[in-house]
Amino acid sequence: MVRVRCSPLRAVENFLDIAHFPFVHTDILGAEPHTEVQNYKVEIHEDVDEVWATQVKFYQPQAAKSASGGITTEYMYRVPAPTCSVLYKTCPPRPSEWDVITLFVQPLAEDLCDVWPWMALFDDTTSLTDLIHFQQTIFLQDRSILENQIPRLLPLDPGMEIPTRADLTSVAYRRWLKRHNYTYGAQLVAQ
Ligand SMILES: [Fe+2]
Repeated sequence: MVRVRCSPLRAVENFLDIAHFPFVHTDILGAEPHTEVQNYKVEIHEDVDEVWATQVKFYQPQAAKSASGGITTEYMYRVPAPTCSVLYKTCPPRPSEWDVITLFVQPLAEDLCDVWPWMALFDDTTSLTDLIHFQQTIFLQDRSILENQIPRLLPLDPGMEIPTRADLTSVAYRRWLKRHNYTYGAQLVAQ
């Protein structure tokens, strides 16, 4: 568990954002000059009422502890609940399977949360300790970014933060929250 002084919604949104990989997780989940985010698909699956991003592809120097070199990784993101996000990603040793990493965010206040990561990975060589350390390294890099974001609460009105193509998932997530009137940890008007 990692305690983060940020909005629970910001924690989920950061998990959904791939554009920060080369800059925050340099030489692990991304690297310059491979900063371009290729087109991907974002939609609300109305039948289950979930946000889904699919066909997300990204060059990663070390996609997982089990990866021995740079590969183009494919991701699928799913938001089944406002403070939960599930990531399916290419499994380096088993390309026909998905690794699954989930983030359960427990709100403690509108700007404070405990983040509980959960992982299901295929990896026959790395020790559990090393797997946990690999994820901890990444989460701690995210924490320093999250604790310095302004505004602290997640803006739900379009136009308050400039969306780019890389932020398509974030835009869908914010719209979905707004539709559900989920305002805890959100900022509704510009300040
Ligand atoms: Fe990150």
